[in-house]
Amino acid sequence: MSFFDHLFRKKNIDDAIATAEQESIHGGGLQKNLRVVDLTALGIAAIIGAGIFSTIGSASYNGGPAVVFLFIFTALACGFAAFAYAEFASLIPVSGSAYTYSYVAFGELIAWIIGWALIMEYAVGNITVAVSWSGYFTGLCDSAGWHIPAWATVDYVSAKEGFETAGGLLKAGAAVSDLTDAQREAYAAWTQAPQIGNLRAILDIPAIVMSILITALVYVGIRESKTTANLMVVLKLIVVVLVIIVGVFYVNTDNWHPFVPNGFGGVMAGVSSVFFAYIGFDALSTMAEESKNAQRDLPRAMIYSIILCTVLYIIIALVLTGMVSYKELNVNDPLAYVFSKINLKWFSGIIAVSAVVAMAGVFLVFQLGQPRIWMTMSRDGLLPKRFSHIHPKFRTPDFSTVITGLFVVIPMLFIPSDTVLNLCSMGTLFAFVLVCAGVLKLQMTPDAPRGKFRTPYANAKWLFPAMLLGMMAFMFTSYPKETTDWLTNEREAFVVEDLMSGMPEQEIARIKTQIAQSDSAGLAAAGGDLAAYLGGLKAEDYHSAVAAMPVDDALKFESGWNHFQHKIPMWLFIFTCFYLAVLSFRHNLSLIPVLGLVFCFYMMAQIPFKSWLGFFIWLAAGLVIYFGYGFKNSRLARGKALNI
Ligand code: ALA
Repeated sequence: MSFFDHLFRKKNIDDAIATAEQESIHGGGLQKNLRVVDLTALGIAAIIGAGIFSTIGSASYNGGPAVVFLFIFTALACGFAAFAYAEFASLIPVSGSAYTYSYVAFGELIAWIIGWALIMEYAVGNITVAVSWSGYFTGLCDSAGWHIPAWATVDYVSAKEGFETAGGLLKAGAAVSDLTDAQREAYAAWTQAPQIGNLRAILDIPAIVMSILITALVYVGIRESKTTANLMVVLKLIVVVLVIIVGVFYVNTDNWHPFVPNGFGGVMAGVSSVFFAYIGFDALSTMAEESKNAQRDLPRAMIYSIILCTVLYIIIALVLTGMVSYKELNVNDPLAYVFSKINLKWFSGIIAVSAVVAMAGVFLVFQLGQPRIWMTMSRDGLLPKRFSHIHPKFRTPDFSTVITGLFVVIPMLFIPSDTVLNLCSMGTLFAFVLVCAGVLKLQMTPDAPRGKFRTPYANAKWLFPAMLLGMMAFMFTSYPKETTDWLTNEREAFVVEDLMSGMPEQEIARIKTQIAQSDSAGLAAAGGDLAAYLGGLKAEDYHSAVAAMPVDDALKFESGWNHFQHKIPMWLFIFTCFYLAVLSFRHNLSLIPVLGLVFCFYMMAQIPFKSWLGFFIWLAAGLVIYFGYGFKNSRLARGKALNI
């Protein structure tokens, strides 16, 4: 066998199932408790959470009512990917999710990469969930008259950055009332934190305590976790439905005009947030070994939970943007906020309590998922044996569960949650893309085994190339300028965050003075916050405002390589589309996984290049570990898989 053959050695499906069964027979297995209702409930428990209760706010603010299109697009992408997951889950009903699937379809190296990327989805995604949870929890405590000091509700880096920005603005002449709530909080956290020498004690205590408690629950057992998850699901469904029923009466259709206030770019700015709202259905595939009849129930549960959540999300997005102007929705607790706006404070309190419960439910499912992936990787020899150790009494993967807890809590101390949101979406979309590709690969392999569940087949041979050509014709005719500018790498104004972070303080002050003269009402409406003001402008107005700023061009426009690098993800996407068109034509590929791959890759291409870089650095670290440990210790390397 050559080195490359070793790298791409594949797991045999029967071996994968036999390994899992063998573990079960020898008393180390997991309990088989879950039926289709429990699995659907766990799916909903994982899906409805921080996304709909929290991050949807900024997505609606950026996209306006048209954010519903993003919900529909994302639902399609996730739905197509769910078919691919379901197909694999019915073929290989063992824990490990996309990791196990790619081990069968692509071989060990890709499987390792996927397993490593999934840490981004589960452990890193849970940081976002915990921090959003803490936001609602702290708000509830406040309304109960119990104020948690600012330094105990934020991470160190966010506090430091917020303090520096706020300090800069104050020095440049802004009043304290000009600062945003987040800036004021960060300023208070930094200045009031207890100090030991030079070190400030700044940490999100509620998020940390909740993470530790739920990790302990997961450690104790799946039965307890399942009952808790079912209860949480009932509660959150009731609340979401109530929000819709009550909210509908307060919809003012005037708020839906204009429907697309910030154009296509505004809608797509919410990709990470909206996608985050859907993540979770795939976590079900990590519970295959705990389901009574995984091959039949897992596919059903995934599709049921995704359909239900999509319907709810679309209606909620319409209700939210109908109740208040989209411009008011840039808040962390949009659902509670809209009801407090119409003076239904008691109802907004109920929503806040439910949000706390709902997000804890998501946290629970993700905390269940991550250790089970590690457990499978360890059984395959890619991680040390301890990762697959099952607790003799609780029958849960104990060591992996504890490590998962640490993976959530430690980074939470240092990494701001908006950074982790993009990384989480990257990791998850990457896994979705590979699972769709895996289904296509199996389809192209003659005599490949197929599971009980089959994605409905439509031949992509002509359809997909025709769709691609149609899309290109549409882009060139409807947006000729944008399309050609893009091809020629024309310079462009920095996006707001980059513009602000690259601008020296005295220049910010000059710009503010200029804008205060030209549009004082607009600036006042944005609370005097320049970034919020600029972020709220329509695309064309933003470009004219930037062009008119009295500062050097290099501070305002991006060009050359700096500009081109942001387009790399989109170029990769375009090449992938053409390659897929050729493959579809030659192999009569199935349309649904092709579209799943394309839609998910498209969303990845919308995530900022900075996050792509961060993600690939993470993957590189994973490769170092693989070559240092897994490559040598893999079960396949030791030939064990063949002798079960
Ligand atoms: N979909 C999950 C949530 O929104 C991750 O919290």
